[in-house]
Amino acid sequence: MKNQDHEARIAALLKEMTLEEKVGQLRQCGPSLVGAFEVSFSELLNMMFDGKISKEEFERLMSTAEQDYREEELRAGRIGSYNGVSDAATANRLQKIAVEESRLGIPVLLGCDVIHGFRTVTPIPLAESCAWDPGLWERTARVAALEATAAGVHMTFAPMVDVAKDARWGRVSEGAGEDALLAARYGVAKVKGFQTDDPAKNDSMAACVKHFAGYGAAEAGRDYNRVDMSMQRLHEEYLPSYEACVKAGALSVMPAFNDINGVPCSVNQWLLTDLLRDTWGFEGMTISDANAIAECVIHGIAEDTADAAAQALTAGMDMDMTSEAYHENLAELVKTGVVKESDLDRAVTDVLRVKFALGLFDNPYQTSVEKERQAFLKPEYRTLAREAAVKSMVLLKNEGLLPLSREKKIGIAGPLAAAGGEMLGAWAISGKDEDCVSLADACEIQDVTFVYEKGLKESEAASVGTESVPAGAEQAGVTESVPAGAEQAGVTAAGADPVDRAAISRMAEECDVLIAALGETKDMSGEAASRASITLPEEQLALLRALKETGKPVVTLLFNGRPLAVPEVDALSDAVLEAWQPGVEAGNAILDVLYGEANPSGKLTTTFPHTTGQCPMYYAHINTGRPGGRGKFTSKYLDTPLTPLYPFGYGLSYTTYEYADFSLEQGEEGVTARVTVKNTGARDGEEIVQCYLCDETAQRVRPVKQLMDFKKIALAAGETKEVEFTISYRDMGYYDREMNYIVEEGWFTVFIGRDSADCLSGRFELG
Ligand code: BGC
Repeated sequence: MKNQDHEARIAALLKEMTLEEKVGQLRQCGPSLVGAFEVSFSELLNMMFDGKISKEEFERLMSTAEQDYREEELRAGRIGSYNGVSDAATANRLQKIAVEESRLGIPVLLGCDVIHGFRTVTPIPLAESCAWDPGLWERTARVAALEATAAGVHMTFAPMVDVAKDARWGRVSEGAGEDALLAARYGVAKVKGFQTDDPAKNDSMAACVKHFAGYGAAEAGRDYNRVDMSMQRLHEEYLPSYEACVKAGALSVMPAFNDINGVPCSVNQWLLTDLLRDTWGFEGMTISDANAIAECVIHGIAEDTADAAAQALTAGMDMDMTSEAYHENLAELVKTGVVKESDLDRAVTDVLRVKFALGLFDNPYQTSVEKERQAFLKPEYRTLAREAAVKSMVLLKNEGLLPLSREKKIGIAGPLAAAGGEMLGAWAISGKDEDCVSLADACEIQDVTFVYEKGLKESEAASVGTESVPAGAEQAGVTESVPAGAEQAGVTAAGADPVDRAAISRMAEECDVLIAALGETKDMSGEAASRASITLPEEQLALLRALKETGKPVVTLLFNGRPLAVPEVDALSDAVLEAWQPGVEAGNAILDVLYGEANPSGKLTTTFPHTTGQCPMYYAHINTGRPGGRGKFTSKYLDTPLTPLYPFGYGLSYTTYEYADFSLEQGEEGVTARVTVKNTGARDGEEIVQCYLCDETAQRVRPVKQLMDFKKIALAAGETKEVEFTISYRDMGYYDREMNYIVEEGWFTVFIGRDSADCLSGRFELG
């Protein structure tokens, strides 16, 4: 990305900058809140979480708050960037101060979390990954960029490409699932969609690849927790997705909160300099995660914030997101020689380089209030959001019940059927509840003959109880931290029957088919939303049992931000559709699928275990010397099946596909595997064909299967297509015991199939 003219201008600017101005460029501020209350924002937040004030009271107070952008400091050149500005008027007001009223006129950089859409909220990333469709991923990123840039955003803190194999971790919702290849393809598509070929265009924004690195491997799925793993595994399974995004030109990288093998990423020189810059050639800017630099003190790697700032800058961290550790300490650290001015200059250069790449020096005002007024929720954006939601859904079970005929009267129950805002999922900070079409809304809009009953008694549904937290947790105060919003999902106290049986039986009498809208509220996944039990709240299971007892066929719709361990849902339902958190067009997309106007084609990018105790559960495991089996001394749990509830890559359709004619051919550069896939049903459809590899014997044990490629193909009813994959020998390698990447001779198995558990296969010998 280096550009000679820009580099010359940066060098000239650096000569003119004072020490304070340089430090200012590395400071990202969030607007502080000035309100009609005397306590700080974080205290207020804690008061709400502690139940001292209600959520409504918190929101009322927030609405009285004003945002303070510290304009005097911006004018003085002491702020280089803001996090969270997302309206054109504020963006241009701040930019005017930076460009026209500060001494050197350096433009300000505005960053914001635009994770899965801005106003047109599209499905959560985990959902969208189930479309296995890079073209779609890029198109939704484009729309996010069109809307966000109109609101003044220059950089989004996305994509998140953390490979996540542990469903307890709440942030699985923000990424593309458990597989390295998928995460890489997903990330690259997002980078292209956000940045385009020309990041300087008004409607392009910088991507910030996060969270570098290995955040998805946080121990036991508990957020922010340690990551301790071999360098080989890190390189093979966790790093490729970040590397792919860097190679695709991402302008920014966000180091993760976690440590890797004892060294927090924020101060990890090996990660931020040796690997990212010296090995991968990254020339953009790094920006810390929120407050992460100062938090290095609590983490136990720095004595105080000055030490943290010194370590972070020296390691290769360019910008400090909101911790103020740089702002408060860097000038002094340079003056006293603790930090080299050349390191400071490197960081400032990186930040200015990104500002140049975004065109901010020559074209600082990239939007206007007028442009913003017309930018959001255009009909074509809603159409795309609906398409993305349809393609994200995964049909998990269907005993011939779906698709439904529009003639049938449907009875809808469950806490998520009419909860439009819950369809947004985590990290939809610019999304609005009123933009969302819930299932019940869609039924109204589309004149469906239906009855809606929440099905849970109001008094029960309003209390947040102990059933969903482990025994003993109450004493430990865990019940207090049940996330806000959990009550809407029907988390209630044990004991009384939470189900409104009278309403359910009335509804069942009237209707032909029952639909249970179950799952998690949006607060139950995302950041700081790890769960120790990933099943449904007991009340929801009770509701499902009651629906089943009516004898009417039951379709379960699941709305969730992570895999759920729900064997009972599978057993009690005639059909199960995983809808995830589908975004603003949720209800319309669900009806498209339920009525067969769209044929479901999504496949899971994350394994669904039977029970939480199986976590982390993922398809690309190794064999052990005693693979799980009937024998006593084999690798298994006594009390749960060996296999997952639904495997990686799994998903049904309204048609059926037959795989046949597997063949292998060895060439100069690689191996070509072929199959024929026939649509043997009566409907047209799209099938995601997956190709896996296993290196049977190696110097380090290799996964039983590893995804190497995939193709999504359209097949008309009765049509047959040949599908071919070429795997290069180079891609068959791995890191040996000394960390050399090697491709070894010997036997390999290639698999092609409909999911990770159901494949045709063949072997070949390399060498
Ligand atoms: C999250 C990041 C996010 C940042 C800025 C942090 O808490 O970990 O993913 O980009 O906040 O809002």
